[in-house]
Amino acid sequence: MTHRELRRELIARYGYNLFELKPWEIRVDLLTDSGTTPLSEAQRKAVSRVLRKRRTNERAYAGNESAERLRAAFREVFPDFPYMILVHQGRGAERVFCDGFIRSGLWTLPRNLWRQETPHQKRRRPIVIGNAPFDTTRGNLEAAEAEIIDATTRLWHDPNTPLPFKGNVDIELLDHSLIRDSDRMACALITATCNTAAGQPVSTSNFDEVGLRTSSAGTLLVADIARIFLNGFLNKKSIPYDVGITIQGIVKQSLTPVDLCLMSAKKDALSPGGGCILMKDRALYEALLPYAILSEGGKDYGGMTAETMEAFAVGLKEGLNESFLKEYTGQAVYLGEGLKSAGWPVYEPFGGHAVYLDAGVALDHLAPDDLPGQACAVELYIECGVRACELGTAMAGRDPKTGKNRHPRFEFVRLALPRLRYTRDDLDLVIKGAERLWKRRRDIHGMMFVEPEPPGLRHFTATYKWK
Ligand code: F0G
Repeated sequence: MTHRELRRELIARYGYNLFELKPWEIRVDLLTDSGTTPLSEAQRKAVSRVLRKRRTNERAYAGNESAERLRAAFREVFPDFPYMILVHQGRGAERVFCDGFIRSGLWTLPRNLWRQETPHQKRRRPIVIGNAPFDTTRGNLEAAEAEIIDATTRLWHDPNTPLPFKGNVDIELLDHSLIRDSDRMACALITATCNTAAGQPVSTSNFDEVGLRTSSAGTLLVADIARIFLNGFLNKKSIPYDVGITIQGIVKQSLTPVDLCLMSAKKDALSPGGGCILMKDRALYEALLPYAILSEGGKDYGGMTAETMEAFAVGLKEGLNESFLKEYTGQAVYLGEGLKSAGWPVYEPFGGHAVYLDAGVALDHLAPDDLPGQACAVELYIECGVRACELGTAMAGRDPKTGKNRHPRFEFVRLALPRLRYTRDDLDLVIKGAERLWKRRRDIHGMMFVEPEPPGLRHFTATYKWK
């Protein structure tokens, strides 16, 4: 039996769900860049320092020293956001924000009334507008009954023109919606870089333009900053000459108009876990904190262990290092160019953290309901042991109103790069495997869900079969 046949058997046993694979069954794991960064020397030192602590109050439920160190790191990196709520990971931040601001009805009140004890729930369905939110963010917003308007710039629909900021928010659409939906507008949300939109960055000037509109409309501006350092780096790359600005300076400038940030620590902050909500307004902080205590934990840990907080605090500063960001984004370019020369249609420019293959175009003998992205990701695994992730019809789920499959603009297969983990040799293995798969792509069959299909976030738990 060849390795390929073995993998074919294995993945069939798992119902073709790539999330079920075990580490030893994978040669190069490009499922995610989240929580996959090995701890640096400095992170290890900080973690072992807390592990050695004898006095329990130093790792306490309240008044935790590690939380203090984490706050100090945030004061240094994000000095404009004095209020911070700790959470167990990014989706925890989303949940607290959605419960405390959207579902509670706080969004319906003007800022000067945020201190009121019980906000008055009004029977209006809230709207959240912005570039494409990540799937858990979308799920949390929808669970809070918000309607999401995807206002990613139309330029995003063109996968071939290498323009620098295809993650931007379309200002015309925003203007239009802010007027038309003024009594339902809960907040604007910018995800930077925009994972769902092929990892495309958002320009600092787009942040400014959105901020001008939201502040004059009295609408809260929220940013998902899981990959804000990458966003800063990609902004810097598009400046034609060196003006001596640091990544931190660009991040600061981008976030100037932002009221609240949701952050997963598992990406740019190089942490194995954790996350936070950053705010400028004390009243908003006080309104959200009880929701965090309810679902995440007390204000001095938010579901994180002391070790995680230490790694987060160190990673937050190390993640800003420009030569590291250069090296990391260089890997995406190397992989993207390699796949392109192998024949694959690849979204350009390549996202900072990942390369997105367009399986809809590559497997144009399949219809979107044949789940071409999932079929392609499964076959890539079988071909060369590389695990990637479908971001297409399977992930997009069903429209809650019609019950029909949602078909996103692209049937992506995302190859996400764990930071500081793989070498050129590993990437060459991926490129060579993809090259072989390209040659037999016409033989790839469509897939379908095995009934019963999971009700929500189905790609995590679904099983599939060949059509
Ligand atoms: N926001 C963005 C832009 C993300 O990419 C993710 C996670 C989250 C929020 C949620 O954060 O995982 O800490 O709860 N993205 C991972 C990925 C899972 O593979 O892209 P989390």
